[in-house]
Amino acid sequence: MVSCPHRLSDVFRSVRLRSAAVVALSLALTLSACTDDDTARSPQGTGTPGAAGLRDPYFPKMGNGGYDVTHYALTLDVDLERNSDPGHHLAGTAVITARATQNLSAFNLDLKGLDVESVTVGGEAARWKRAGQELTVRPKAGVGEGETFRTTVRYSGTPRIITDPDGSQEGWLPTTDGALALGEPTGSMTWFPGNHHPSDKATYDITVTVPKGLRAVSNGELRDESAKDGRTTYAWRSTDPMASYVVTVAIGTYEIRRTAAGKLPVYVAVDPAQVKDSRAVLDRIPEIMKWAEGRFGPYPFSSTGAIVDHPGAAGYALETQNRPVFPGAPDLGLLVHELAHQWYGDSVTPKTWRDMWLNEGFATYAEWLWQEDHGGDTAQEIFDAVYEGRHHADAASNEAVWAFPPANPPSADRISDPPVYERGAMVLHKIRQAIGDAPFFDLLRNWATTHRHGNANTADFTAYAEKFARRTSPDADLAPIWKEWLYGEGKPPKA
Ligand code: TRP
Ligand code: ZN
Repeated sequence: MVSCPHRLSDVFRSVRLRSAAVVALSLALTLSACTDDDTARSPQGTGTPGAAGLRDPYFPKMGNGGYDVTHYALTLDVDLERNSDPGHHLAGTAVITARATQNLSAFNLDLKGLDVESVTVGGEAARWKRAGQELTVRPKAGVGEGETFRTTVRYSGTPRIITDPDGSQEGWLPTTDGALALGEPTGSMTWFPGNHHPSDKATYDITVTVPKGLRAVSNGELRDESAKDGRTTYAWRSTDPMASYVVTVAIGTYEIRRTAAGKLPVYVAVDPAQVKDSRAVLDRIPEIMKWAEGRFGPYPFSSTGAIVDHPGAAGYALETQNRPVFPGAPDLGLLVHELAHQWYGDSVTPKTWRDMWLNEGFATYAEWLWQEDHGGDTAQEIFDAVYEGRHHADAASNEAVWAFPPANPPSADRISDPPVYERGAMVLHKIRQAIGDAPFFDLLRNWATTHRHGNANTADFTAYAEKFARRTSPDADLAPIWKEWLYGEGKPPKA
């Protein structure tokens, strides 16, 4: 059986987490209250401050209100003092182009740790202050609703690592020969300031300068590589919208292979010690892409590939846009999973962290479909095995699938738990049973096409599926699937 990329999580942490969330919420409220107060007294107080958080049900402080980022231009100068952690030093400039969605007297960016040196808006020095992960910027003139404005933040320091509510690590992770930046769900705010919430996607230019001999790999396409004074600069560009949690930078020694899948460029970067073990599976990327396009519709991005770092570089794989990251050679199922996320997660991105099953349920179902289409168990057989508690070797894993409904994880430390993955996949299979194969595969494809490069939540999906089914399978009733499989507590009846 393919291995599932679930992360370990600790049930007992949820108690601590709930109180942390309450603290987070009151902090966010306090912050915006203070800012409000300031504005009232401010002589140039046109507009009001943008909200300090987007009230995400699991990460309320993440993201900010009052503007929409369209582009990030990140320039990073990286110094790695090898074997002397914490020795990584970043000197960064973030140029953030955004459109105001209200009259703004001030707005926030998310940035955790690091030192801010200066902030300008529209080329003019701006006042700023920091509180926790909130960088509040007060432009001299205010910004009018609908206006596009450019904020430049100069910053530096050693990024800190974030330990998630479920215990896994993310952010700027030092590796044996460099670093790996991973951002699901919140790690990207440790190395660049931004609107760090999946609902605000933007294009990116990521330019990274590293000591000569090392390489910097990121999302999108490499458009320039230049050397100067013993350092090498790699300029990467993503012209398709990207959520900040799937942004990556991988620094180290990598063997690079550039091939193609049809017309699509494939860029693969592999830690030299992993080349032998990963060659065969990575050679199948073009085949997987072709299969996935057949099942999910046209690939939504302008290049693909993979980054394989050393085992332990991270505790999990991640669907970083264009080229997923793997800590060590992936197995075929995991590669299929992360590539399927390019459609479901990276292109169709959740509106909030509650909608994670739209990522993980779909990517898990993609693994089942791959099996079915390649002479393995059918999705129905896998579904039955999960339902009957014989999919995993141990009873606890089989039982874990029923811990909570996929559309409603009980707390932030559970958003990558088995119900989100496996029971999420089971929801899709129940739809397939209800409407039939051909309509179901149309639905999978059309969902991806309709929300291409956008955001969607669970209600969007159920409404879409119902509308779709009314046309293709008028006799099907999806309501019981939502009630029992998507939102219902406990193990649903099989029928
Ligand atoms: N998205 C990753 C995968 O399934 C797993 C993962 C890594 C994750 N970090 C996370 C899931 C944080 C939820 C939250 O391939
Ligand atoms: Zn996944």
